[in-house]
Amino acid sequence: MKKMTSIIKEQLKAAFAQAGIDESYARVGLSDRPDLCEYQCNGCLAAAKVLHRNPMELAAQVCGFLRNSSDFESVEAAAPGFINLKLSGEALSFFVRQMAEDEKHGIEQDECKTIIVDYGGANVAKPLHIGHLRSAIIGESIKRLGSYMGNKCIGDVHLGDWGLQMGLIIEMMPEGPITIDQLEKIYPAASARAKEDPEFAGRAHQKTLLLQSGDPECRAKWDQIMQVSLEDLKKNYDRLNVSFELWNGESTVNDLIPPLVNSLAEKGIAYESEGALVVDVAEPEDKKEIPPCIVRKSDGAALYATSDLATLEQRETLFDPDAYIYITDKRQAMHFLQVFRTARKAGIVPAEHTLTHIGFGTMNGRDGKPFKTRSGGVMRLEELLDDTNEAVYNRIRENREISEEEAMRTAKIVGLAAIKYGDLSNQASKDYVFDIERFTSFEGNTGPYILYTIVRIKSILAKSEMAFGAGDICPYRTPAEKKLELALVSYAEVMDTAWKELAPHKICQYIYGVADAFNTFYHEVKILSEPDEVLRRSYLALIKLTMDILLDSIHVLGFEAPDRM
Ligand code: ARG
Repeated sequence: MKKMTSIIKEQLKAAFAQAGIDESYARVGLSDRPDLCEYQCNGCLAAAKVLHRNPMELAAQVCGFLRNSSDFESVEAAAPGFINLKLSGEALSFFVRQMAEDEKHGIEQDECKTIIVDYGGANVAKPLHIGHLRSAIIGESIKRLGSYMGNKCIGDVHLGDWGLQMGLIIEMMPEGPITIDQLEKIYPAASARAKEDPEFAGRAHQKTLLLQSGDPECRAKWDQIMQVSLEDLKKNYDRLNVSFELWNGESTVNDLIPPLVNSLAEKGIAYESEGALVVDVAEPEDKKEIPPCIVRKSDGAALYATSDLATLEQRETLFDPDAYIYITDKRQAMHFLQVFRTARKAGIVPAEHTLTHIGFGTMNGRDGKPFKTRSGGVMRLEELLDDTNEAVYNRIRENREISEEEAMRTAKIVGLAAIKYGDLSNQASKDYVFDIERFTSFEGNTGPYILYTIVRIKSILAKSEMAFGAGDICPYRTPAEKKLELALVSYAEVMDTAWKELAPHKICQYIYGVADAFNTFYHEVKILSEPDEVLRRSYLALIKLTMDILLDSIHVLGFEAPDRM
């Protein structure tokens, strides 16, 4: 199924050709002035410059040819040379009907690519905190979007499970079984002690090296830590509706590191500098200084970058992926730039396999500073979820009579939507303020508002008692219907752009517009009590499409809708 902009563009091309203007100027986009028209073409302005002609005249000429088309209700040339296009009811409804008939509502599948999405990035034996929340939320949504567009996406949590923190924990760990609560207390205690007690720090460092070189005793403790920690992590990611195809980590590639580092040195790509082994990655076009990538410290230890390089090598061998997408805090941008350049230079990743890092901003509290607990500590993810669910729970019980049990169940679903939508509706690279009041509100640009809209449609459809199908959508008769149809039409364009730009916030923008248009429609049009059956069927088919699109979209964003709220 073609996109609406492609359909319009074809007509524009023909009209431009008839007017003797090169087709390449026949561009079209959504209008900047929705009060005047729905689509807009600015091509005559550029063409006029090249042809040394008056842009208004060109626009008027093109409009003359477009007026024959039944796809437009009006075609106007507007100063200084725009073409303003309004779709005809026929064309709009015909398109919306096709969307309803199409399983993917007009989305064309990508040619299937294999894509590794590296997100989550939890560190073993440390509690998941807010910093990991964004990676999980954004990464999950990007992975789902990629799959929705027809790709094979493989999510890897890439655990921090091999560094000094493991040595610290092993050194302080008591004998015998251990719980997650104990484990989580050990790490902060051990890292505090290491700062004051150099001997302890030395022993922990030693334990790290022993672990990495395969010492059975350290390995046994590590296994124990991993077992307890993974169970807890999985539980937490489950609560977030986040899941991974691969539970690999830094430890997975331990054995690949020595041969990799040796080959970098042998090939002359890495060289010694102040005892460390480094790779130059600066390029002449760089606007700022890009320091060399250190692949081995002077004490012989591997680093974060080394394990990322070894991981790339392993992923190439196992999956030969077309693309890699990493999602971390933007403070890691330099790390990824260095790793990517080293990987290219060393031939670990061929040029045709793309490497992308999405760096996200900080989640702040209402004071504009990084989000903290009420007592000022680092907020744990579980606490944040509990607080949000409680806020939603209270709203639900305020709103209506509902059993405590159902309210709890619903609050979990709605609370997650509040958190995820609150995060994803911002451009990822920007910082944002986590405002529990606003995020959990049932009105405005929020997750709960979107869910509320879906639930409302569900309940109308449940009451409808009438058979209808996609083909029942007839040309709109009211402005509210038109507004809803126009909001829906750009679905394929939006999903496409969101995927190309890895920008889930564009999906949020779109569904907010759709939800808003639906609610206007709902208030202005009597759906169930419409006496004309043809019209009533048309309304039902239109709101069913609205609901399906909202459901697909929230699925891509990584949350679900309850039955009632
Ligand atoms: N564990 C890291 C952290 O907490 C994130 C890992 C991101 N992925 C990667 N391949 N480096 O910062």
